[in-house]
Amino acid sequence: SARTLATTASRSSILRRGYSSESVPDRKVAILGAAGGIGQPLSLLMKLNPLVSNLALYDIANTPGVAADVSHINTRSEVTGYFGDDQLGKALEGADVVIIPAGVPRKPGMTRDDLFNINAGIVKGLCEAIAKYCPHALINMISNPVNSTVPIAAEVFKKAGTYDEKRLFGVTTLDVVRAKTFYAGKARVPVAGVNVPVVGGHAGVTILPLFSQATPKANVSEEEIVALTKRTQDGGTEVVEAKAGKGSATLSMAYAGALFADACLKGLNGVPDVVECTFVQSNVTDLPFFASKVRLGKNGVDEVLGLGPLSDFEKEGLEKLKPELLSSIEKGIKFANK
Ligand code: NAI
Repeated sequence: SARTLATTASRSSILRRGYSSESVPDRKVAILGAAGGIGQPLSLLMKLNPLVSNLALYDIANTPGVAADVSHINTRSEVTGYFGDDQLGKALEGADVVIIPAGVPRKPGMTRDDLFNINAGIVKGLCEAIAKYCPHALINMISNPVNSTVPIAAEVFKKAGTYDEKRLFGVTTLDVVRAKTFYAGKARVPVAGVNVPVVGGHAGVTILPLFSQATPKANVSEEEIVALTKRTQDGGTEVVEAKAGKGSATLSMAYAGALFADACLKGLNGVPDVVECTFVQSNVTDLPFFASKVRLGKNGVDEVLGLGPLSDFEKEGLEKLKPELLSSIEKGIKFANK
């Protein structure tokens, strides 16, 4: 019958990907802010991820349409749309990973910190609900300023008694994505094989790409490294200006967010050696939170990896970023406790 055929076809497509249906555990992913500029393409990309069994799309409005649309894609996950405060609990219940791109984006002339007043409150409210409905989920914080929203989340979870530093991540993957793209262009190497760690935070000079550790090695001059560093730090602003008032990076951010969430899911599922740069509670420097390479495992952070050898230029950049990053972290902590 047609039904048997369909079942056989979907089974064989699962097998072709190298999984048996038994070995892929059920995983629920919730996206908060799913109807937004990032949220919509991110919902699409997460619908394409075979590791997801249940995709919950939450926003204050417009999620029924996004969910109906995405749900017609013939991939594994079941999609449900939720909107409004009273549906937030249902969206979160049982979530393994919660991705948060809720909040306002930048307009030309704004820094990420200018978003603080609005986004800090949004993130605080969402994290209070997470503490209540899915306290063990891995949190992927995209909402800016990430340097402050991650500390806010930590404080909210501490107050609720649910804080686990291994489960809270600021998503800095877009900085890595940009560094790889820009490096490949300058070094004239195929971008697919390029790796560049990016450490520090996620705003302006706090974004510190470590081009001295970039692979493959290439002949890139000192001057070009300085320019590449600046372009990586200003990558978000480049998009904000090009969009001229219509928001900030959404498509490249959705790609980066989907990559990071996929890494979290692989870690949860026990895939070995999943390493991504991300902004986490950290002992790598004297700052309480810092982005660096992190190995992801079954409980979230498996190990926060060190910085490795830095060039003099990078050492200088590291010292320069610390005061700004610390003040953004403290601003978040203060807000959450006021
Ligand atoms: P957007 O304005 O297009 O979408 C934001 C969505 O959040 C809207 O649909 C809105 O209804 C929703 N929202 C507002 N309050 C909410 C609440 N309480 N609960 C659930 N949803 C809520 O903005 P866009 O472009 O999607 O950006 C979202 C955030 O991501 C911004 O803060 C932006 O700065 C940040 N961002 C972060 C990046 C990173 O690398 N971490 C890169 C680019 C943007």
